[in-house]
Order: sequence, then C-alpha cells, then structure tokens
Amino acid sequence: MLAARVGTLKYAIREVAAKAREVEARGKKIINLNIGDPLKFDFQVPTSFVEGVRKHLGKGNYSASEGVGELRSAVAEWEGKKGVAVDAKNIYMSNGVSEAVFGLFGVLLNPGDEIIVPSPVYPIYEAYSRFFGATPVFYDGINPSVEAIQALIGPKTKAIVIINPNNPTGLIYDEGFLRGVTELGPLVIADEIYDLMNFGKCPVNMGKLTSENLVVLNGFSKTFLAPGYRVGYAYFMGADKVEGAFLKYCQSRLCANTPVQWGAIEAIKEGGSWIKPTNKKLEKRRNIAYKGLKKLGLEVEKPEGAFYVFPKLPVSDDKKFVLDLIEREGVVLVHGSGFARAGHFRMVFLPPEEILKEAIEKIGRFMNG
Ligand SMILES: Cc1ncc(COP(=O)(O)O)c(C=O)c1O
Repeated sequence: MLAARVGTLKYAIREVAAKAREVEARGKKIINLNIGDPLKFDFQVPTSFVEGVRKHLGKGNYSASEGVGELRSAVAEWEGKKGVAVDAKNIYMSNGVSEAVFGLFGVLLNPGDEIIVPSPVYPIYEAYSRFFGATPVFYDGINPSVEAIQALIGPKTKAIVIINPNNPTGLIYDEGFLRGVTELGPLVIADEIYDLMNFGKCPVNMGKLTSENLVVLNGFSKTFLAPGYRVGYAYFMGADKVEGAFLKYCQSRLCANTPVQWGAIEAIKEGGSWIKPTNKKLEKRRNIAYKGLKKLGLEVEKPEGAFYVFPKLPVSDDKKFVLDLIEREGVVLVHGSGFARAGHFRMVFLPPEEILKEAIEKIGRFMNG
C-alpha cells in the first residue's frame, strides 16, 4: 500500500532512542549520548535569539519563499565575515539544513544517479539519496583523498558531498583536500553546519576556495544553539541551473518559519558572543571523551570540531554492542552502521564532565564484563 521508498528512511540516531525508552521504563538510569542537541545539556539558545523570536511572534504571515530579505542580507554579511563573498540573492532560507538537503536532492537526483558521500556520513545524506532513487557512493571520510574521490566519479555522478567539520567523526578537512575536490568537476555540496564549532584548527569555508559549481548548507541549529527553531540556509555559487530548480522547490513549500527568521536577524546582529565560551566548554569535554575512550583501549581519532567522537570497536556487530550497552549500563550511543560505517560507535560529548566520565566508566565496565 505504501511507497517502496519508505524503506529508505532510516535514522539510527532516533532508532536507539526507542530501545532507551523501553529500558528506562523498567527503571534503569539512562545517559543519552545519542542526539546532537546541545539544549539537552547545559547550553541555552542565545538570549538575543530567544528575544528576537519573541519580539516577532506576531509575524505569522508567509514570508518570501527564498526567505525574509533582511535575513538573507544578514546571512550574506555573516558569511562575509568568514571571508565568503556571497550575494544575498543567492541565499535561500529553509526549515533547517535537513529540509534544504531534501529539496536539493529532490531537484538534483534522478533514479539511477550516483552521489559521492563520505563514510561515515550524517544519515540523511544516504537516506535522501536513496529516497529519490539515487545511489550513494562512499569515500573514506576519515582519511579522504582527492584521488580516491576522483576514482569514484563516473557518468552517473551528480555531486560530491563534503561535511566539514564532519558528523560523526568531528574531523576537519585540510584546505588542500577541499581545494582538490572543487577542481574535480561535479557539483560540490558542502555542509558547514559546524563550521564555527572548533577547537584550534579552523575549517576553511568552501565558498572561499571556489565560486563555481558549489552549494553550501549551513544553519542555526548548532553554532546558534537553536536546533528546535528549525532554520537553516543554502547558498549557491556558479550553479545557476540547480539554484533555479531549488527556488522552484522553495516556492512549492511556501516558506521557512517566519518569526524564527526575524529572530535569527537579531541573533546575527548580536554577533555570536556565545561561540567562544561554547567552544571552550566543548573543548574540555572533547578532551575528557577522547582521553577516556583511548584509555579504554579504543582506537579513536581526536575530534577537531562539532561535538562527536567516533571510536572503532573491537567487535564487528556494532548495533548489538550499542543495544546491549543500553540494556546493561543505560548508556545510549549510536552504532557506526547507522552512519554507513560499521564497527564504530558515535558518542556525543555535550554533557557536563561528571556525566561524561560516568558514561565512559560504564562503557569500560561493559566492555570488560
Ligand atoms: C552534518 C549535519 N547536517 C545537518 C544536520 C541537521 O541540521 P538542521 O537541524 O539544520 O536540520 C545535522 C544535525 O545533526 C548535521 O549533523
């Protein structure tokens, strides 16, 4: 009765939550390290953003499909401060990056097309590719090389996806690699939602490296600490056909949330004073998570941005590992296979230090038990 494509909609991060709820209902204490939502821990939406949205709640009108003009200009300025020269007219507001990916893939991918994505990958890039009948072709996102990606390009390739900093690894890619990718030929889709969340090494924004054949995705869920506000954006550089098609998609879904767009203008005006303290807090937690997991004997790359760590497991059945860990210790991780990279798990290092330490101790006890 249903469309066959329903089977492509998998989202492991929320799937493990169902198991956690079941175990919690039996009275076990749960530590949720599965969802990348800072507000589940001791982070708050910046006051300027909250007050901005409050101030504009009366604006219940549909806004322009491309987004509120003043916000598009503010985003252009915000990107400009990072060194990206993007014109406001090429920026399109969406209900989060997720919606932008859905619309973009919808207008880009035909059944049978291929799209080159990292492994591991944030799940929607695999799910939405398959939803539209395309095939994700994976490159090694932990040790990527331009040559390896080049070898995957074929007549059916529609685009190359870069997630920088990466979810789920927290790794930041070098400028040389990024530049090389822009020179390969296919459209580059760069998800930079974590660009300002980093601990020393700064990611280079793709829009600084090229103004051709590029779509950049960003938003207010992570660096602006407002994932539930559902506002993001896509901007296009030298990709007029795709941009025109994306505008049609935007028109068909009317607009992004209007009061939140107005609120976002206030948050941008405030200038991001919360970003440095947030990164400081996260860096400490990154250190605890990284050192703690290493001490358990796990092979793990040191995250340089975002708030995830993605260790390798000594067992291959990562889903069983994650489900058994929930059952026995109440610690909720996500299996690497949910990110198209089996034999790993992803842990969020957002919680306060004591909780992180407790979780790591429990993981250790489970591994030794
Ligand atoms: C790499 C990446 N892109 C996009 C999203 C979703 O962003 P949004 O909340 O703007 O839909 C996430 C959320 O975790 C993410 O990690």
